[in-house]
Amino acid sequence: MDVERVQTIAFSSMTEGRIPPEFIRSEKERPAITTLHGYDPQIPTIDFSDPDEDSLTRLIAEASRDWGMFQIVNHGIPTHVINNLQKVGEDFFALPQEEKELYAKPPDSKSIEGYGTRLQKEEEGKKAWVDHLFHKIWPPSAINYQFWPKNPPSYRDANEAYAKCLRGVADKLFGRLSVGLGLGEKELRESVGGDELTYLLKINYYPPCPRPDLALGVVAHTDMSAITILVPNHVQGLQLFRDDHWFDVKYIPNALVIHIGDQLEILSNGKYKSVLHRTTVNKDMTRMSWPVFLEPPPELAIGPLPKLISEDNPPKYKKKRYCDYVYCKLNKIPQ
Ligand code: OGA
Ligand code: NI
Repeated sequence: MDVERVQTIAFSSMTEGRIPPEFIRSEKERPAITTLHGYDPQIPTIDFSDPDEDSLTRLIAEASRDWGMFQIVNHGIPTHVINNLQKVGEDFFALPQEEKELYAKPPDSKSIEGYGTRLQKEEEGKKAWVDHLFHKIWPPSAINYQFWPKNPPSYRDANEAYAKCLRGVADKLFGRLSVGLGLGEKELRESVGGDELTYLLKINYYPPCPRPDLALGVVAHTDMSAITILVPNHVQGLQLFRDDHWFDVKYIPNALVIHIGDQLEILSNGKYKSVLHRTTVNKDMTRMSWPVFLEPPPELAIGPLPKLISEDNPPKYKKKRYCDYVYCKLNKIPQ
């Protein structure tokens, strides 16, 4: 089966100056109509190197409760590690199409891993202006190297170096988020699988689009993960839904964008919020992003933490295995 990639469609759309109708959103989704400009309520930016742990905990817990998304600066991951991650990802997407297809997600595969384009059409049969590559980067027992590009040759080293640094950031985040819920520092990380927590990397590739006013990159969604840690490139595109409007999330060089995912909303019984977000595309420039979804192992059942529920605060969510949660979400079955 030959799937037409958005990267290929974008190339012909550029010369024609228009996009295929399945990419044209209805008025209620069009970015040009639904984005609020002028008023600019920016998500919190948090200095992750703050030596005052109580203050860091408070800032992170408040941002997770009030916004569900924040950016961290001074996170300790060296700039060259992030630059290398981006460079090898850019090099992969610049390869000839046939070479990228070597990593295509097998059609019968149950896993999400591999190079691809979302096949499932969205509401009203619309398609997203984005291609992607998914593969796990941690723990070693979960990695399928068949989905890691061999070209460029430094792809593996760059991704391993990033995974190593990211673990430190993730552990510290879980620690602060756990204390922010009144729990011990290790409890939250343990309840999402401890050392079995899976790091799933996605590279989003949003080619230039002659009609960025009509198309969308990733459509409105919340992440299924516990936490998502995202590196964007310099092209603006991430938007957050708040107070009935879509807002641009400002690009801050060297910052990491942290999303609270559905599993943390569930574990915290709604104290931390998984926030609705989407992406827009650019007329002249390729946007790319590197989210890493921190996910519980598939068989692990996630529900509101017993210590956080009481007669006054009854459970708001069902307890279910992460794989069942994913199945329902992808098939639009109520949880
Ligand atoms: C996603 C996502 C945002 C971005 O892939 O889940 O929300 O900035 N991406 O690309
Ligand atoms: Ni997302």
